[in-house]
Amino acid sequence: MKIRKAVITAAGWGTRFLPATKAQPKETLPLVDKPMIQYVVEEAVASGIEQIIIVTAHGKRAIEDYFDRSFELEQVLEQKGEEKLLREIRRISELADVCYIRQKEQLGLGHAIMITEALVGKEPFAVFLPDDIIDSHVPAMKQMIGVFERFGASVVAVEKVSRETIRSYGVVEPERVDHRVYRALSLVEKPSAAEAPSNLGIVGRYILTPDIFKSLRSVKPGAGGEIQITDGLTHLLKRQPIYAYEFEGVRYDAGTPLGFLKASVGLALRNPEVAPGLKEYLRELSTRDFKPPGKLLP
Ligand code: UTP
Repeated sequence: MKIRKAVITAAGWGTRFLPATKAQPKETLPLVDKPMIQYVVEEAVASGIEQIIIVTAHGKRAIEDYFDRSFELEQVLEQKGEEKLLREIRRISELADVCYIRQKEQLGLGHAIMITEALVGKEPFAVFLPDDIIDSHVPAMKQMIGVFERFGASVVAVEKVSRETIRSYGVVEPERVDHRVYRALSLVEKPSAAEAPSNLGIVGRYILTPDIFKSLRSVKPGAGGEIQITDGLTHLLKRQPIYAYEFEGVRYDAGTPLGFLKASVGLALRNPEVAPGLKEYLRELSTRDFKPPGKLLP
């Protein structure tokens, strides 16, 4: 069955990025020259997705405005003769068929996916976490769709993560079935390095069968009343196989200030308009002696 729909979960508080995210959605913070969420929308479209469902929340209106048409702005650009900008602004509003659903309480990623059931219907679908940006030759979701078409089961994206960071991931107990493809034997949410069944951490791309909705409904909320996607997947795994796919490409976790900076620099170095100037600046920086900041005067 073709993967036609994608869910992009963008309703979280973005607490790791406060205060920047107090009055601005994390997903609209710009990476080089466009908002973070545009990267995943473009990845979805390039992977053949036809309809995008964005889960938003209170204070996230900027996302809806961004993908909408802005006739006033278009008029201003037209009057100023800014043809190139005008084309770009129109292209953004025509990127995809987007609809929105509000998550009234931020009860976790699993809950955000759960509330899209009526919009997704009874077909397998893709999920994107917009703060995971994957820079790859073949779009990461397109690679995963290839795995889904081969095995006909849910697929989670994984990457090898370090012992120091494994505690932030859902981790797969893998049985290798092919190059980069594993059958998941079990899934463990946020294990310690000693408990982790492998170093394959789940990152923000999933293809899920619609049975996930029933599984998510059966999950008991954990800490903070949150419904974890890994718990939903563990329930699903008892009924049907789940595959883990080690995608080709570089992933940036742009949901924290340091990860965001790495993503900005990494993506800028691949952008012909800014790369030469940035490289020169980085060379200049490497010769500078950075001292820790001095004490501020009272
Ligand atoms: P994160 O774990 O990054 O949560 O969620 P967050 O709220 O965005 O950020 P922190 O942890 O408070 O700093 C991963 C993705 O799932 C969405 C987020 O918007 C993000 O894109 N999400 C998370 C929801 O849509 N709803 C939720 O209840 C939780």
